[in-house]
Amino acid sequence: MATRVQIAPSVLAADFANLGREVRVMTEAGADAIHIDVMDGHFVPNLTIGASVISALRPHTAVPFDVHLMIDPVVPYLADFARAGADSITVHAEIGEQLNPALDIIKSEGKKTGVALSPETPLDRVVPLLQSVDLVLVMTVRPGFGGQKFIETTLDKLAAARKLIDESGESIRLEVDGGIKIDNIRRIAQAGADTFVAGSAIFSAEDYTVTINQMKSEIAAAR
Ligand code: DX5
Ligand code: ZN
Repeated sequence: MATRVQIAPSVLAADFANLGREVRVMTEAGADAIHIDVMDGHFVPNLTIGASVISALRPHTAVPFDVHLMIDPVVPYLADFARAGADSITVHAEIGEQLNPALDIIKSEGKKTGVALSPETPLDRVVPLLQSVDLVLVMTVRPGFGGQKFIETTLDKLAAARKLIDESGESIRLEVDGGIKIDNIRRIAQAGADTFVAGSAIFSAEDYTVTINQMKSEIAAAR
């Protein structure tokens, strides 16, 4: 598992009245990517932000934007997110027939492709996609809201995903999202994740730099 570890703070937990500043401060604090949750009130029961906000944030940092789309339909909006400044775009396996066309469009826009699995979605759904994705996102809470508790049973799925990716020989990031904290991140790293999204754990901290560094040393202890 040689992939470099990444911490991607989720701006869902940021101060929305000062998003540009939050992204700048998070960059100085050592964020490797900024995770941006897009929700439509239909695929998930919550509404967040769209491509115009991403495009407004783009000049505030040079770190990659990791865009997590929890929307249905997704296909009509992909070009907008790509052009707004996303570096990777992750779509959910649960969007059914849109999945393969969505991955093709993301790729044709020159962006990294990601597939996300909600906790109840079996891992075997990613098997046919191992040649076409750059990232597998194992959701460790039900998508829709920040601040939820990490679902312990996802650890086994994560370990199985690690095995699947290693056996495929492909270079694919294994990302986790939801309920990631300083006190559970070591176990999650041990299960095989290399890319860690954290919203409330980082944005509610007094000092973003200290928190990101603590997370990185917990991960290093696991490896
Ligand atoms: C949930 C989102 C997450 C969320 C994580 O649907 O995908 O990215 O912001 O927030 P925490 O870290 O607070 O669980
Ligand atoms: Zn997310």
